[in-house]
Amino acid sequence: MIKLGVNVDHVATIRQARGTRFPDPVLLAALAEGAGAESITVHLREDRRHIQERDVKILLQTIETRLNLEMAATGEMVSLACQFKPADCCLVPERREELTTEGGLDVKGHMDHLIRVVERLSRSQIRVSLFIDPELEQIEAARAVGARVVEFHTGRYAEAATPETRRQELEKIKRAVQQAREKGVTVHAGHGLAYHNVQAIAAIDGIEELNIGHAIVARALAVGMDRAVRDMLEAMRLGYQARLSGIRP
Ligand code: PXP
Repeated sequence: MIKLGVNVDHVATIRQARGTRFPDPVLLAALAEGAGAESITVHLREDRRHIQERDVKILLQTIETRLNLEMAATGEMVSLACQFKPADCCLVPERREELTTEGGLDVKGHMDHLIRVVERLSRSQIRVSLFIDPELEQIEAARAVGARVVEFHTGRYAEAATPETRRQELEKIKRAVQQAREKGVTVHAGHGLAYHNVQAIAAIDGIEELNIGHAIVARALAVGMDRAVRDMLEAMRLGYQARLSGIRP
């Protein structure tokens, strides 16, 4: 079955809105794991707008699965990651003014820097993934800088304004997954995935893991984290079954 990584950033967003101790992403991460999440993702942003270093430290001591630390490839963040040693690090582009991660990392444009970063993180036994747009030149660059995992940005697919654009974006992702697999790269995907659009992505042969945050945290407000994660796993399972049976949703 395709794996689900739950991103708990937006639990911390609510906490930071009031500067309180609650809600605690650590607690919600434990509930997500209990419901079947196979990893927990947090994005420690440079401006610390949601996740704090304290969250990363406690999650590392409490979660039962893997911690996937999303971060910019800056000196400060790489040093912190080498100190924290999460199982996985996903390198993402970061701009202070953005609402969320708005595009993939330009690996091709920053090869020398990324070779050093991937090497440093790998030396600390951290598995590195690069968050990229589903494009061949970025896949090749990711491979060339030493990454064994890529996470394809599904935002354009998720936010497509028309069914035709959505279909085209889906085709791009499918093609890119195939290209990455041919190069021996492990494929994850995420961004903007929700209950209504996850099935077609989960149906793509070759994707091993989806990282999903906003939609799950939003549903958790209404039905609780346990139900929200189980509902997402069910939506993914339907897509995965279609993958096995060759039927495309
Ligand atoms: N993957 C990456 C690399 C991201 O930056 C994000 C957003 O933090 C996600 C997945 C999850 O996106 P969403 O919150 O839209 O599900």
